[in-house]
Amino acid sequence: MSYDDADHDWWQHAVIYQIYLRSFADGNGDGIGDLTGLRQRLPYLHELGVDAIWITPWYPTPGVDGGYDVSDYCGINPEYGTLADADAVIAEAHRLGIRVIADLVPNHTSDQHPWFRRAAAAEPGDAARDRYWFRPGRGERADQPPNNWQSLFGGPAWTRLTPDGPDWYLHLFAAGQPDLNWTDPQLAGEFDAVLRFWFDRGIDGFRIDVAHGLSKDPQLPDLLAEDEQTLLGGAQQGHPHWDRDETIDIYRRWRAVADSYDPPRVFVAEAWVEGTERLRRYLSPDALHSAFNFGLLGCPWDAAALRREIVDHLAGLGRTAPATWVLSNHDVIRHVTRYGRAQTSLDEARQRYGEPVDLDLGRRRARAAALLTLALPGSTYVYQGDELGLAEVEDLPAAVRQDPNASEAPGRDGCRIPIPWAPDGTPSHGFGATDRGWLPSPPGWAGLSVAVQDGDPDSSLTLYRTALAVRRKLRAPGDEHDLHWFEAGPAVLAFRRGALGCVVNLGAEPVRLNAGANVVLSSGSGDPGVVEPDTAAWVHLPAGGDELF
Ligand code: NOJ
Ligand code: CA
Repeated sequence: MSYDDADHDWWQHAVIYQIYLRSFADGNGDGIGDLTGLRQRLPYLHELGVDAIWITPWYPTPGVDGGYDVSDYCGINPEYGTLADADAVIAEAHRLGIRVIADLVPNHTSDQHPWFRRAAAAEPGDAARDRYWFRPGRGERADQPPNNWQSLFGGPAWTRLTPDGPDWYLHLFAAGQPDLNWTDPQLAGEFDAVLRFWFDRGIDGFRIDVAHGLSKDPQLPDLLAEDEQTLLGGAQQGHPHWDRDETIDIYRRWRAVADSYDPPRVFVAEAWVEGTERLRRYLSPDALHSAFNFGLLGCPWDAAALRREIVDHLAGLGRTAPATWVLSNHDVIRHVTRYGRAQTSLDEARQRYGEPVDLDLGRRRARAAALLTLALPGSTYVYQGDELGLAEVEDLPAAVRQDPNASEAPGRDGCRIPIPWAPDGTPSHGFGATDRGWLPSPPGWAGLSVAVQDGDPDSSLTLYRTALAVRRKLRAPGDEHDLHWFEAGPAVLAFRRGALGCVVNLGAEPVRLNAGANVVLSSGSGDPGVVEPDTAAWVHLPAGGDELF
């Protein structure tokens, strides 16, 4: 398999696999995933059938936030390898027909980035300071933060530069992640150079971290009581630090850079904004190509709720941009666990962390959800380990946890456990570590490893491989925006995209398909003509066919 270089619209219908690099594959046995490990495992992704990979930040970093604290945008974290290793990953991925999306972190740098070190060492008022947000503290002794903004990771969004000095700096995330000031006249040029550096090396696009956060109200006013303190921008106009209109101008500039390449490079935004209407502002032929849709992350396993998310997302986007579907990523509780606990929102899932969970039920639903999201129009993201049916690891001892995010206690480590590759007797099941990985793996994961699932017709891995192959085969050009619903009762989702019909049963009673239905894939086992509760089926519907029930 190789891809068609002339298919400039690949991102409109891609299956994109998220590589959490530190936990994917360890090539040198030190317990930390790396680029050599990733390169060695590319054939696995080729066989899985993904169109592209998105690799979480690979840059030099002190590692206070899993690499989202970058100290050099044009280098590689030595724990992960070298620039030559990155080049080798890109070349080998391309040879196998897999496109490569890197992760860009433009909202903040590390406090160890030379820009910040220079700014911190400069006198107040020096131009070097303009790259970040420095402000004098409040109160007679300047010992109160300059305003009431809160860090997403808990506590004030301001840290005092020196214990007694007047100045504080802004960080919407960890204190080691000072926010950049995008009104600095030099900054945009610096980032153009970063884009070109990686585009020249052959990457196909960037995922943009905190894409809704780059611009701030230069007055830095206090948040009002009604302003959202969370990651969400809020529907209201004029939030002082989320989802501001000026941000889109930055992306217009980036789009021109991306479009100057052949083939054009692409962007996917991580933009937590209130509703598709707001999201749409980022997406246009002269701004960004696509954005994650996080609607399914908090959505309960409920037919009406899921259908509402799907309908609203598609209707909200219209034809401006392809739909995107995300069930899990490195920031949220894995969906096997969410579905096994039948929570109704992401917040509730967090509150119920560690409570009893029915993982068999969760896995059954996760299999059905895979067929649901892979049948929908647009692009689907698969987080590493989803294809193995991995659950959240909730019993990690506090001593091994590393995530600084205190506001989502106990942090996000439980979805970042190394991938189990084989039951080879090592503590992290063939991840590559000679001892254990940077986070410990549950003993039970040997049975979920790739080598164990490989070739097992009933495994989650086989389901994903088959689904991706069928999806590829049945896709027709132009069906990215095509969705036709069938009415099959309140607990059933049934729809057709092109020649692919999908039926998901979220109710308690089996659903019988039409006797002539050509079932090509089932997430359950048993009679393919019956869609059991918490399972899904794919039906081949040749042109115009609608014989599902
Ligand atoms: C979103 C990333 O996905 C998350 O892991 C990170 O902590 C924040 N952005 C801050 O960069
Ligand atoms: Ca390693």
